[in-house]
Amino acid sequence: MVTRHRWLKEIPNKSSKSLYVPETIEALLSEGRSFPPPESFSIQANVSDGSIYEEAERDYVSFWEKWAERLDWHTKWDQALQWDPPYAKWFVGGKLNACFNCVDRHTDGDLSEKVAIISEGEPGDVRTFTYSEVKLEVARLANALKLLGVKKGDIVCIYMPMVAELAFAMLACTRIGAAHTVVFGGFSADALRERIADASAVCVITADGGWRRGKVVELKKTVDDAIAGATTVRNVLTLRRIGDSTAFNAGTWVVGRDHWWHELVTKESSDCPCEVMDSEDLLFTLYTSGSTGKPKGIVHTTGGYLTGTSATFHCIFDHKPSDIYWCTADCGWITGHSYVVYGPMANGATVLMYEGSPDTPDKDRFWKIVEKHKVTILYTAPTAIRTFMKWGEQFPGNCDLSSLRLLGTVGEPINPEAWVWYWKHIGNEKCPIVDTWWQTETGQILISPLPGLTRCKPGSATHPFPGIKAELFSEDGHLLEGAKGGYLVLTRPWPAMLRGLYNDHDRYVETYWSRFPGVYFTGDGAKRDDDGFLWLLGRVDDVMNVAGHRISTMEVESALVDHPAVAEAAVIGRSHEVKGQAISAFVLLRSGFEGDHLVGEIREHVASVIGPIARPDDLFVCADLPKTRSGKIMRRLLRDIAEGRALGDTTTLADSAVVAGLRQQYEHLES
Ligand code: WT7
Repeated sequence: MVTRHRWLKEIPNKSSKSLYVPETIEALLSEGRSFPPPESFSIQANVSDGSIYEEAERDYVSFWEKWAERLDWHTKWDQALQWDPPYAKWFVGGKLNACFNCVDRHTDGDLSEKVAIISEGEPGDVRTFTYSEVKLEVARLANALKLLGVKKGDIVCIYMPMVAELAFAMLACTRIGAAHTVVFGGFSADALRERIADASAVCVITADGGWRRGKVVELKKTVDDAIAGATTVRNVLTLRRIGDSTAFNAGTWVVGRDHWWHELVTKESSDCPCEVMDSEDLLFTLYTSGSTGKPKGIVHTTGGYLTGTSATFHCIFDHKPSDIYWCTADCGWITGHSYVVYGPMANGATVLMYEGSPDTPDKDRFWKIVEKHKVTILYTAPTAIRTFMKWGEQFPGNCDLSSLRLLGTVGEPINPEAWVWYWKHIGNEKCPIVDTWWQTETGQILISPLPGLTRCKPGSATHPFPGIKAELFSEDGHLLEGAKGGYLVLTRPWPAMLRGLYNDHDRYVETYWSRFPGVYFTGDGAKRDDDGFLWLLGRVDDVMNVAGHRISTMEVESALVDHPAVAEAAVIGRSHEVKGQAISAFVLLRSGFEGDHLVGEIREHVASVIGPIARPDDLFVCADLPKTRSGKIMRRLLRDIAEGRALGDTTTLADSAVVAGLRQQYEHLES
C-alpha cells in the first residue's frame, strides 16, 4: 500500500523553509522537487487519512453513496447507480431539491444567521446576505417566476453580472423545478440568441447592466437584440443594477414582456415551497465549445451533481465553517455553477462574489478584496496568476494576505513558474495549492491533490480524486501503464458526469464515446511520470484554451467568413505567456477587398458575433492557405509559423510555396 501511494503524506522538513523555494524552475523540474502538505495544514485537514483512496477503490458506488447521504433527501434512492454506457443514472428513485439543500436546510439548522454571500460590486459596493436572507430573496424571486408562467421542467436563461442576484436567480429556478442555462455576460447577442433557441428558454433573467473596468456592460440591450424576431422567450425580468446611479437606459421596454425585478419580486410572498425533484431531473444546461458545429448544451441533473460537487468541495477545498471562500470564476462558466453556488452552498459556506475586473481601480484589487474580507480560500485560474506575475509582486506584497490558508487553480495547465509564484507571493509559502483538473462535462473536479495529504509537484494536477478512474490510452486504444504519455480517458462513471448533450444523442456519442468505444474521452492529452503523477498537456482537438476558456477554432472561423470581405479563414491557438493560448487568424479576402483598415474591422466582427473573448489576437491577410491535396487546411503548419518553429512534416502539402510565402509575410509583420 505504501508504495502504491507514494505521493501521500511525507514528513515536511520543518527545519528548512527554503526547501520549498527552488532557485530556478529548471532545477525544480530536473530535481523533481516536490511540496509536501504543510504539517500544520495536514493535522486539521478534512481528509487526513490516505485510506480514503483504498476505501473508494474497494467499492466506488458505496463510496459515493456515503457522500450522497450528507445531503437532505426527501425520498431515499432505491439504486445508487444504473450504468448503461454512455448514460449513467445516480441515486435512482431518490427525490430531493437542490435549492433546499443549498439554502433551506441551513436556515432550518443553525446556519440561519451565517453569511452565505458577500457580493462586492466593481464600484466598491458591498452587500452581505445571511442564509435566511438568501432564502427570503430566492423564495420571492421563485414566486415571481411562477407569476410569469415559469413551470417545472421549463428552461430559464440567465444573463447577468456577477452579483448575488445571479446566484439567487439560479437557486430560484432550482427551487421551482425549472432548469437554468446561464450565459456568460461577455457573450454577444448572437451567441445569446443561439443558446436561448437551442434551450427553448421561456424566460430571461438579466440586469440593465453590469460594471466592467469602470464601464457599463449593457446586458438588457443585448437581450433585446437576442430575442428580437421569433423567440421562445415570453418574459424578461431585469434587475436594476446601474439605473440608480446614472441615467441609464435599459433598452426598449416592451409592455407585457419586460418586468423590473424590484417592482415584481419585492411584492411577492416569501412562502414558496421547494419542488420535490427526481434525482435525475434536469438541474441545468450549460453551453460549451466543441471542435465542430454549434456550442454543445451540456446536461447536468440533480442528485449526482450535488453529491459530486459538495463532496469535492468539502475534501479538496477543506472547507470549515469559519472559512471565507472566494472563487473568482463567473457563474457563466461551470466553475461558477459547481464551486461558487452548488458545491459551496450545499456545504453552508460563506461565498464571496466579485463583479468586476482585477485591475479596477488598480492592479491590487484582488488582494484588497482578500484583505478586506479576510478570505481564507482562493480559487482562481492560471491565466490570472500569470497576469499578476507580470504586474509584479508589489501589488499583493502591499496587502495583508495572512488570512489565506488554501489556494486553488483551474482551467488550464499551470506552468511551474506560475505555481511557485502563487505559492510564494500569494500563499506566503504556507498554503497548499490544489491544481484541479475537470471540465464542463465532468461537473465536478476529477483530478486534484487532497490538500492535507498529497505531495505536490508544481504543474501536475497529481492524482484522480478517490473513486475516479482516469487512465491513459494509446492512439489505438490500449491502456498505458507506468510512465507514459497518451490520451486521457475516464473508464468509470462519477456522480456529476454529464447526462448527455441537450437534445443531441448522436453528437454526445460521437464527441465523447466514439474515439475509444465504451470509455469517456476527455479530449485532453496527459502524461504520467515515474512517481505516478499526472501532467495535463492540453487539448488534442481543435479547441483552443484562451485564458482558461474553451473556444473552438471552427466557431471563430465561421464568425470570420461571416464578414463580407472574408473568403476563407483558418484559426489556430498559438502559445501565449499570459493567456495560455492566443487566437491567430489567417484569412483570404474576397476579390475587390483590400486595405489595412479591414484587419481591425474583421477582428471586431468576431467580437460582435461571439463575444470579446473570441476576438483574434492577430489576424493575417494572406494570399493562400496551406492545404493537403485533399483540401484540408494544415493548421499544424500555421501553428508552427505563428510560434516561430521549424516547419513539421510538409510532405502532404499540395503546394509548398504557400507556407514559405506565409512565413515570410508573418515574420515581416512581426518585425
Ligand atoms: C478543459 C475544460 C473545469 C472548469 C474550467 C474549464 C482544461 C481545466 C485544468 C487543469 C490542465 C485543465 C482541460 C479541460 N483544464 N482544468 N487543472 N490543468 N488543464 O472548463 O471550459 O469545460 O474546459 O480545460 O483542457 O479539458 P472547460
